[in-house]
Amino acid sequence: MYRSQKLAVRYFVAAVALFGVMIIAGLLSALYYLHPSLLFDVFNFNMAKIFHIDTLVIWLLMGFMGAVYWFLPQELGREVEGIWLAEILFYVFCAAVAVVSVVFIFVQYGGSNEFSLWFINQGRKYVEAPRWAAVGIVVVVLTFVYNVVATCIKARRMTGILWVLVLDLIPLTLLYLDAFPALTNMSTDLYWWWWLVHMWVEGTWEVLIGCIMAWALMDVMGTSRRIVETWLYIEVMLVLGTGILGLGHHYFWIGTPQYWLSIGGFFSALEPLPLLGMVVHAIYDAGAHHMKTNNRPAFYWILAEAFGNFIGAGMFGFMMTLPQINLFSHGTQWTVSHGHFAFWGAYGCGVIAILYIAKQKISGVNFLDGRAWKWGFGLLNFGLIGMVGGLLIAGIAQAFYERAIGGSTLMAFMAGQENPWFVSGMYARMGFGLIFAAGYVVLVYDLLSAGKHAPKSAVKTQAP
Ligand code: HEM
Ligand code: HEM
Ligand SMILES: [Fe+2]
Repeated sequence: MYRSQKLAVRYFVAAVALFGVMIIAGLLSALYYLHPSLLFDVFNFNMAKIFHIDTLVIWLLMGFMGAVYWFLPQELGREVEGIWLAEILFYVFCAAVAVVSVVFIFVQYGGSNEFSLWFINQGRKYVEAPRWAAVGIVVVVLTFVYNVVATCIKARRMTGILWVLVLDLIPLTLLYLDAFPALTNMSTDLYWWWWLVHMWVEGTWEVLIGCIMAWALMDVMGTSRRIVETWLYIEVMLVLGTGILGLGHHYFWIGTPQYWLSIGGFFSALEPLPLLGMVVHAIYDAGAHHMKTNNRPAFYWILAEAFGNFIGAGMFGFMMTLPQINLFSHGTQWTVSHGHFAFWGAYGCGVIAILYIAKQKISGVNFLDGRAWKWGFGLLNFGLIGMVGGLLIAGIAQAFYERAIGGSTLMAFMAGQENPWFVSGMYARMGFGLIFAAGYVVLVYDLLSAGKHAPKSAVKTQAP
């Protein structure tokens, strides 16, 4: 195994641990909806939610970086350039996450001044980490970019997937700088903040996971490079063609000019196309190889990624992306339902597929299967779909009772929160969240034990 792959495994371990913290913070956040005075003034909802969504971003980023450190040396047949620096920065990264967590738990908030921005909280949703830590993340990511680019240069070889990856890392890094400015006009602030959130998840992250899934498909099913690269180009063109101006679907009601209603509505309505392309691609590959694979868990998680991305991001996003509907659904639990399905489908499932690919190589088995992964797969996906369903019902109740009937007044908001459909949705989310958490426990158990008892020498490829 390359040193870079050993580093990848460390990233995977950190990612899975943070995934666990994210679930605990999610369950806690859900509990406030059932007991609003829970931990009042000790640890309020806002802090639990910050924990939940910041760890989400970090575990996924760590998963992506791990995946690239895993596949890059394999792709170029050589060790990653400057790997020692990346190894050091991994610990710096983990230490920074730990320090920020302590601050978020014990300090929580400060005055509205520069000190708070630098040391407590930058205040931008999903990227709340204080400025010193945000600078640290920039350094870690720049090192990562250096590792990738320098390795390609040293190897004097580029593949199609690597070209897409390297070009994608430029906007991916630049957009993060958008976490920094502290603007006092809320409309202007949101205007720029969406460049980060939307362009990441509906642009650069989609391209990145496309590259990672291309490698994964070659690994797990032996798909030919020509096929995965052709699909990758098509998907990337469509993602960028629809996603960039699709940004407009966040500009409907924040004080931006009216033309965004049509631009955002039109382009974002086309955004499901590339995601449908990914599903067709995965099915095409699976069919072409008669569903044959040597790593069943990875294979199923790749399929879950393709479908989850299309349904969670594409279809659930499409449902509320036209301004005529978004007028009623904006900022309700409907949005939360889409947010969970999309992040899970597009990115969570993809990272888990890579964990199983690494698992297979580490345990040295030619064929990875078993029973536990199926339970993990089933509980996690069943739990998530249940949560998403509960949230959708709660969101639709809000759209009807609070917005359409109540006219969006404060009283209507309160009536919406007390509506039985809304309340049942919150209970459903809690129950299915617990099932999801059980799935996580099985996943961790399986990752630690899978492959132990499988024969190491027998070359075996089976149809799932
Ligand atoms: C046990 C499982 C989980 C529970 C109980 C849970 C619960 C919650 C709660 C209560 C919120 C706050 C919603 C609000 O502001 O009203 C939230 C937000 C969020 N969660 Fe989760 N969550 C879980 C798992 C996940 C997973 C697996 C992901 C993604 C992979 C995720 C991504 C998000 C995102 C993106 C938000 C922000 C949504 C928004 O503000 O629109 N969560 N979650
Ligand atoms: C992997 C891709 C995607 C992810 C991870 C994702 C995630 C999210 C999240 C977390 C939010 C809530 C943001 C917030 O207010 O905090 C959101 C909002 C939204 N997303 Fe997506 N999304 C994805 C793709 C899409 C696509 C393809 C569409 C359209 C077809 C879409 C349409 C929307 C719309 C219209 C909103 C605003 C909802 C509102 O007004 O409250 N999303 N998305
Ligand atoms: Fe968006």
